[in-house]
Amino acid sequence: MCGIFGYLGEQDAVSLVLEGLKKLEYRGYDSAGVALIQNGELLSHKEVGKVSVLDAKIAEKGWKSGLAIAHTRWATHGKPTQINAHPQFDTASRCAVVHNGIIENHEAVRRLLQKRGVSFQSDTDTEVISQLIGFLNKGNFLRAVQRALPLLQGAFAIAVIHQDAPEEIICAAKESPLAIGVGEGEMFVASDAQAFLKYTRQAIYLHSSELALITKKGVQAFNARLAPIEKESENLDHDAEEVTKGAYQHYMLKEIYEQPQTLQNALLSRFSEEYGSAILDGLKLSEEELFKIKRIVILACGTSLHAGLTATYLFEEKARIPVEVEISSEFRYKNPIVQENTLAIAISQSGETADTLAAMRELKEKGAKIVGICNVQGSTLAREVDSCLFLRAGPEICVAATKTYTSQLIVLTLLSLRFARMHTMSQQEGKHLIKALQALPSQVKSILSQADKIERIAKKYAHYDNFFFLGRRYMYPTALEGALKLKEIAYINANGYPAGEMKHGPIALIHENCPTVAYCGDSVTYPKILSNLMEIKARSGKVLAIAPEGSKEIQGIADDVIYVPKTLDELSPIPATIVSQLLAYYIAKERGTEIDQPRNLAKSVTVE
Ligand code: G6P
Repeated sequence: MCGIFGYLGEQDAVSLVLEGLKKLEYRGYDSAGVALIQNGELLSHKEVGKVSVLDAKIAEKGWKSGLAIAHTRWATHGKPTQINAHPQFDTASRCAVVHNGIIENHEAVRRLLQKRGVSFQSDTDTEVISQLIGFLNKGNFLRAVQRALPLLQGAFAIAVIHQDAPEEIICAAKESPLAIGVGEGEMFVASDAQAFLKYTRQAIYLHSSELALITKKGVQAFNARLAPIEKESENLDHDAEEVTKGAYQHYMLKEIYEQPQTLQNALLSRFSEEYGSAILDGLKLSEEELFKIKRIVILACGTSLHAGLTATYLFEEKARIPVEVEISSEFRYKNPIVQENTLAIAISQSGETADTLAAMRELKEKGAKIVGICNVQGSTLAREVDSCLFLRAGPEICVAATKTYTSQLIVLTLLSLRFARMHTMSQQEGKHLIKALQALPSQVKSILSQADKIERIAKKYAHYDNFFFLGRRYMYPTALEGALKLKEIAYINANGYPAGEMKHGPIALIHENCPTVAYCGDSVTYPKILSNLMEIKARSGKVLAIAPEGSKEIQGIADDVIYVPKTLDELSPIPATIVSQLLAYYIAKERGTEIDQPRNLAKSVTVE
């Protein structure tokens, strides 16, 4: 899982690939490297750390070339060291490979090559690719890459250069995204087209088991047997706007503060006040197809999974359609049963999460219709689903998801409203829900205006190393998400749990140094969570409650209360989550962690 960027043309390739790489750091940032061909010689440099570290070192070298490939890594096989960083090379150091994905049979290929005298330098699975190509190269570089590909199992996207072919980049992809940007006399290769959008909007996507020979003149794609294939370039219409932090110290804080606007964007023109229903133009299913849906399967990972869990309550309660939420990485190994009239909803802000893509493909193959909920136009998910509902949240740079999560909740609410109005919900109820949705942006603004208070409370709790996050019904996935934010950016052990389950084991962990963040925004279960919190207090546990304005009883129980504007139960995850995000942010800031790029994480997880 990593970011690849390559350039071939008249411009300064080295600075251009480094600039491109910075746009791909969301895919990993533990080490980075570049390879280029200058005056017929293959040169390279790699560094542990972010692209900026590599950039500083490269600047001293004064390299000039019109061809370079580069890589930012999220380690899978082998620690993040200089040797394990990409590019990886063949024994003669004439061929360089950058790779995104995992070679599952790397051990077997490694042994095979070792038996034939090849010696390896790194612990990476990637080195088997470069060594294999080097081994198979008998003077025809393209043919060597083509012969290597069927010997590699797993998912991968690669870009390869060779000293003997100083005007060529060869790319190949198998179940991993790779976009080729076609400019005027110049060509780009990237894991994500966004990274070259500033230079060209024409992109060619490689599909599984295809390879491409890139020269300044153009791209020739081939199938696995090296027969030429015609590929149309797509015109990318998304925004190439440069995103900056502005006056904010971190992207995360900026993205939290953008939410009044992003919620508005997610809602824009997507409902009819008159009919009390949702209008979802992206939904390419006929009225009849929608009406026939008997079961919904939701696929997602991480924060998106928490949005999916919230949606189970929405769909089942409002539309009376049975829903299963599946962790994508587990789902595909279940040999899932797909009955007629099953709708799958794949939720992924990036649209590139390998597990979600694999689970989605499995369901598609079995005949389910797929609706994607995604923030990135042109992403693999957006291109492969039957219908895509975009979040319209704008680029999210911080690794931890904030604004995309609340936009996912909005889109899922609208989708459930669409179904509910077909089945059980009255026009009046629909209108009521729309009114509450419209009120959310200004309610979120009022929570943001309490940031100072939340920061003060965060400072009070920042020294604890263990937390519970508890909620019931709509507040249960909200608690899971709150706990995840704290783990991700503050590196604190935070246990999200359904409050009613505490007495079945976890309450044994409660003591004065293990505080509980309690989500009290669900009116149906409010009296129940109060009892659960009394049980915590009786065991000397501290309680920080997030509760709707007007909840009086909580004051006598909790040590601290953060009040949020009252809304409907089904929308209550949004105000509560804004508080979780600010709380995690200020705790992380107090503990001095790297908020926007937390250790060990990546925004787009492109390996299974
Ligand atoms: C990574 C990110 C999370 C994200 C998850 C799923 O783990 O760090 O923030 O929730 O992937 O990503 P997706 O793009 O599929 O929503």
